[in-house]
Amino acid sequence: MPGASRPVGGPDLAQVRRVVSEIPGPRSRELLARQRGLVPAGVGAVLPVFVEAAGGGVIVDADGNSFIDFGSGIAVTTVGNSAPAVAERAAAQLRRFTHTCFLVNPYESYLDVCEKLNELAPIPGEKRTILVNSGAEAVENAVKIARAATGRPGIVVFDHGFHGRTLLTMSLTAKNKPYKQGFGPFAPEVHRAPMAYPYRWPGGPERCAEEAASALADLLDRQVGADNVAAVLIEPIQGEGGFIVPAPGFLGRVAEICRSRGILLIVDEIQAGIARTGRMFACEHEGIQPDLITTAKGLAGGLPLGAVTGRAELMDAVPAGGLGGTFSGSPVACEAALGVFDEIEAGDLLERAREIGDTMLEFLGDLSDRCPVIGDVRGRGAMIAIELVEQDGDRVPAPDLAARIAKRCHADGLLVLTAGSYGNVMRFLPPLSISDALLEEGLTILGEAIAKEATCAA
Ligand SMILES: Cc1ncc(COP(=O)(O)O)c(C=O)c1O
Repeated sequence: MPGASRPVGGPDLAQVRRVVSEIPGPRSRELLARQRGLVPAGVGAVLPVFVEAAGGGVIVDADGNSFIDFGSGIAVTTVGNSAPAVAERAAAQLRRFTHTCFLVNPYESYLDVCEKLNELAPIPGEKRTILVNSGAEAVENAVKIARAATGRPGIVVFDHGFHGRTLLTMSLTAKNKPYKQGFGPFAPEVHRAPMAYPYRWPGGPERCAEEAASALADLLDRQVGADNVAAVLIEPIQGEGGFIVPAPGFLGRVAEICRSRGILLIVDEIQAGIARTGRMFACEHEGIQPDLITTAKGLAGGLPLGAVTGRAELMDAVPAGGLGGTFSGSPVACEAALGVFDEIEAGDLLERAREIGDTMLEFLGDLSDRCPVIGDVRGRGAMIAIELVEQDGDRVPAPDLAARIAKRCHADGLLVLTAGSYGNVMRFLPPLSISDALLEEGLTILGEAIAKEATCAA
């Protein structure tokens, strides 16, 4: 039977780091050579080792290397890879039926996921949810709904923001290379405000929230005209932009500015949501109540599923036929999402995310006191990053250093990701199923890699 001898993933996979070849190893290099003849160059890989199994806190490759996972497939396998409740529910659904198209014949699991999101989302009043296939599709739909509900065209987004790779969502995304270069012309009616980025705010972190809020109000009132704006769209912690936690109070000011002008607030929780930061939704840390929330990534434990949850009267503004798609809300992905909610509740994973965050912040805070190249340590829960700068203290971004440290970590069996508008941020997104032992071992490897590439005090 094909694949019969392959290792099995899930939490029973041996929870050890093991490096048995150079990285990537011979089998992965062979597969990479095959990939080059089959897949376009535009599809890159952070760590091109081909995966055989994953679970708990490790990823095992085709050469038998076992990596400590600090990436969770970019914030997707938050409850762990092949987590039992996800795998069992999805497998059982595969045996019942694989697809009907919810627009042709509905099924109950779709309703169960919507009910759960409606119940959990920090949005006041009656709510509705639509399920889609990806993060970008969730953002696209949130914009469609906001425009239909307000009759206004404009969307305001923020510097350093990332919202996807489709035409509209890449237009909403800030960074040019590699996301936008050569792909224009872009979608119209997108306006960009400065982000309250405390580490890099010209007036300093204390003035950041207020000054960034004034800049947003000025953009709305003077440049675009508030009456022309359907929604302000913001990540509660910017993901690809470098885990930028907005200055305290900024999200609250954005919510007030929107409310006073009849503009909708869409919070993009695609990377930070679904238990990642120690709350179900990251915007809960700032106590704001958006009109619409987008989720995806961690929602279905690795199966493709996105959602828009919002106030009922806004969501119902689109007539029948205006929303949905062939695969949207696949029954297998819906079962997987229900498995994710089961895992979060049964495993007390909100608390686990906070514990992981405390461990990482303590270790990285101490490291940054000793290593001047670590300019900033930030994040919430199991979504933490360091921003690397040149040694001279001028906050000059150090992207090459970040790349070298990441490469060393990979060679030592630790999967880390980089991010940031300047490519100088190392971000850490371990699955919440990682053991304390692996978490600490991973942090030690990271500390050693930084000490080898930069000057740190003992
Ligand atoms: C905040 C945010 N929004 C949207 C997206 C796009 O999601 P997807 O890649 O599933 O289309 C991402 C992906 O990284 C994201 O981080």
